[in-house]
Amino acid sequence: MTRYTEPKYRTIFDAKENELEQLREKSAKSPWKPAYHIHPQYGLINDPNGLAYFNGEFHVFYQWYPFDAMHGMKHWAHAKSKDLVNWERLPVALVPVEDYESHGAYSGAALEVDGKLYMYYTGNIKYGPVERSANQCLAIMEQDGTITKYDNNPLIEGVPEGYTGHVRDPKVLEKDGRYYMLLGAQRENLTGAIIVYESDNGIDWSFKGELNLKLDLPDSVYMLECPDYFELNDKDVIVVSPQGLKPDGHDYHNIYNVIYVLGELNIDTLTFEVEDYLELDKGFDFYAPQTFAGKNNERLLFAWAGMGEIDYPSDSEQWAHCLSIPRELDIVNGKLTQKPARELEQLRKDSTAGEVDLEKGSSVTIGSGEQYELELDFSKVGSTQFGLELFASENEGLVLEFDRMKQTVSLNREKLAAAFGGEYGFVRSSELQIGETLKVQVFVDRSIAEIFINDGEVVFTTRVFPKEESKGIRIFADGKLNCRYQKHELAQGISI
Ligand code: FRU
Repeated sequence: MTRYTEPKYRTIFDAKENELEQLREKSAKSPWKPAYHIHPQYGLINDPNGLAYFNGEFHVFYQWYPFDAMHGMKHWAHAKSKDLVNWERLPVALVPVEDYESHGAYSGAALEVDGKLYMYYTGNIKYGPVERSANQCLAIMEQDGTITKYDNNPLIEGVPEGYTGHVRDPKVLEKDGRYYMLLGAQRENLTGAIIVYESDNGIDWSFKGELNLKLDLPDSVYMLECPDYFELNDKDVIVVSPQGLKPDGHDYHNIYNVIYVLGELNIDTLTFEVEDYLELDKGFDFYAPQTFAGKNNERLLFAWAGMGEIDYPSDSEQWAHCLSIPRELDIVNGKLTQKPARELEQLRKDSTAGEVDLEKGSSVTIGSGEQYELELDFSKVGSTQFGLELFASENEGLVLEFDRMKQTVSLNREKLAAAFGGEYGFVRSSELQIGETLKVQVFVDRSIAEIFINDGEVVFTTRVFPKEESKGIRIFADGKLNCRYQKHELAQGISI
């Protein structure tokens, strides 16, 4: 079958003279470029890939289309760090020049095998605007950082019977000396599944079957993307990005959403006994997260702080999206929590602290900034509605509001001039037990806010594109409220 051609399927090697330099110069002028979040110098990024702490360094790869803020030929871009906060940009790791990856080096994960980093990924093949196939491929990073594609790629050619061409995003794990590859897949009846291959060397794979994930996902779910698996606190956890979930109460309001599933995996019988599954993050811009083991074997996560099918205000500057900050996962009271990785404290520069006491119907500005961390301790909560406004100016603001009557928290980004994504609504919310005290931790970085409530019990990941003057931080309450706060200016962690 002939392959599909379209201008957006070209690699960085096909760049015209000065094309990349011009793209870089243009997007460097943007006021919205994050300072410590991994972001593209130009073009569009999406999923984090191949995450690893390998040979004393953290490696983050991520999906990248260089030429515009659109989804085109995907490369694997690469950054590394010794401390998880200061990132060095490295040359692009995977450029899809081979036949087996003719329409992009799609997402995948890494595993250390015999002192080398095995980076598994999907070679995307397109025969038309819709028709496609997929190959599962391998690239290997040596101790010295050299990356080469495996000579006998693809490891797995095409898709198994019973599935459409939507089979991708390998996550490989090792259990009792055997290797297992989880893949997101679409059944021929157009519903989503996770399928599994097995291997005894990480190279030669055979199809094992479909994972019997005993979830009652609705039939509207037509694809499961980016499956991730790990063990934490004696539980097995799957994190996966289903497409086709419909809004349900406070959940699943984005076009695509992310869930985590707690339970027990039996890899021999391919069953996963589900205890519970829940939405992982309540924000507007969070998708395709991937986890890996940190320095002390803690479970770390990066996500794509973005969403498909939505136009973002930075698109006109020819760059789009960033990754989340790294987060440390835990299971507390039967729920997965996400906390900022402890390494982020190294970014702190000047710190200030203060305390405000609010009375009925008042609000107070406690500071301003565009690149900071904020820790808030609310106490003596006598208000029904109270909260925090970020990116605040006379006419703008991102509003986080707690409601003690309803026992909910909501985030509203309607009051911003560069409003976007409104077709999916401007408000996200969650249930939350609100007593007399409450803890909120916020990371703001020019065009992103990540809000962690009660040590990561509820998290909102959200992009915001404020005007120059919208930098204020405001606390408001309709009754009594005490708030103690600390604000830390944060350093630059990655070049623009
Ligand atoms: C998720 C995803 C993956 C795919 C990649 C392509 O955002 O669609 O399933 O591998 O992005 O960029």
